[in-house]
Amino acid sequence: MTTATQGTPTEGTATGLPRLLPRHGQQPEDWYAHVARVGRLPYRDAPGRLISDLQAAGLTGRGGAAFPVHRKLAAVLEAAQARRRPPVVIANGAESEPASDKDATLLWLAPHLVLDGLQLAAEAVGAEQAILYTHADRRNDVGRRLRQAIAQRQAVAVDRVPVELAEAPPRFLAGQETALVNHLAGGPAIPTFTPPRITERGLAGAPTLVQNVETLAHLALIARRGPRWFRQVGTEAEPGSMLCTIRRSDGVPRITEVPLGVPLRALLAGPGEQGLREGAVLIGGYHGTWVPAAEAAKLTLDNHGLRRAGARVGAGILITLPQDRCGLVETALVVRYLALESAGQCGPCLNGLPRIAAALAELAGARPRRGTRANVERWAGLVTGRGACHHPDGAARFVRSALTTFAAELGRHERGRCGATDTTPFLPVPHGSAHTEQDWI
Ligand SMILES: Cc1cc2nc3c(=O)[nH]c(=O)nc-3n(C[C@H](O)[C@H](O)[C@H](O)COP(=O)(O)O)c2cc1C
Ligand code: SF4
Repeated sequence: MTTATQGTPTEGTATGLPRLLPRHGQQPEDWYAHVARVGRLPYRDAPGRLISDLQAAGLTGRGGAAFPVHRKLAAVLEAAQARRRPPVVIANGAESEPASDKDATLLWLAPHLVLDGLQLAAEAVGAEQAILYTHADRRNDVGRRLRQAIAQRQAVAVDRVPVELAEAPPRFLAGQETALVNHLAGGPAIPTFTPPRITERGLAGAPTLVQNVETLAHLALIARRGPRWFRQVGTEAEPGSMLCTIRRSDGVPRITEVPLGVPLRALLAGPGEQGLREGAVLIGGYHGTWVPAAEAAKLTLDNHGLRRAGARVGAGILITLPQDRCGLVETALVVRYLALESAGQCGPCLNGLPRIAAALAELAGARPRRGTRANVERWAGLVTGRGACHHPDGAARFVRSALTTFAAELGRHERGRCGATDTTPFLPVPHGSAHTEQDWI
């Protein structure tokens, strides 16, 4: 769990940015400050117009999968009309990835932008119910802040679709869309098998639209300023900006709004530094990819640019691992956490992830047995694509990238040594605090 507080530092990196967060100060924006900054809600009840604006803007989801937003809205609208069933719209602010803090920061500083986006999306698909799902533990009183924001909106009668708040449990899978729907229906926050897709049959059987809270904030600005404005930053194929949670060697999470396509070197070097001095960079969080720093310095932050390193933008998490830490120890701690977070309902995930975690703990220690590395590679292949959700796939990607990026470190461990001079855990891992270096070395 991130230790960031309500004052997580925020930065913008290009002309016209930040767009989403208030430019000055760290104070939450009330309704009047919000309207003064971005203007009133634009057109209402105009599903065709919003969907075509989103298509022209090329907005993709900012919750990790980068799926085109207009296609999801269109699918929900079509299912609702075909079945004559009003849909449900859910803003996903669970931010269940421990290394991320961008959604909590957005909700804290600019709650009305997210609520505008939720409202516009709900009206566009003809929903009668809208839900804002957030992680209760992330910030001391983000729940109180959101309740105040909703009450302010009721006072000025801006919302036509009523908005409820719902609490996400502090589990890695709680933000996965079918887990979220299951939880809101009164069940555990674990994924369910698809089909049917939730866009057809989701909460209480209704067509359900789930969008990340940052996605909805972009949607609210596109509705006001138009697709051409949105495309002023970013690349032709991946337009716009995104919020990133960046941890440099001081370990402090900083929220930065960046144009897609920005060189990673510019983001990760730190103020006043020329290049990337650190050993490795984690791109995309705990379902993401370790990349050697020298290679990361040549990449750009967009899915096309990251592909050659086998990485993806994901939810915009970028972490530089300082040279005095051991990437194998860090990876082993995270994979142990990921294994514990498995919903335990698919065999390969239930049995495979704990095995991989135990083998990685061995690799992170002194003189691992011959064959352990090969076993990890084989098991990572066996769990991929075998679960009801993408949890094992993401964990396997993370593990494989560690084996190649930290190959030299693996060699040192085989000789009974470890390159780390600082053994305190660097990556934020909820279950990791109970461990000492003795567990690994
Ligand atoms: C294990 C797992 C955890 C996820 N956690 C989140 C989350 O915390 N927040 C989020 O917005 N999306 C999360 N997602 C993605 C959601 O399932 C869903 O794709 C997303 O909320 C859709 O919004 P978007 O299209 O606006 O990104 C997660 C997916 C997986 C596989
Ligand atoms: S793949 Fe793993 S985490 Fe996903 S539903 Fe199956 S057991 Fe649960």
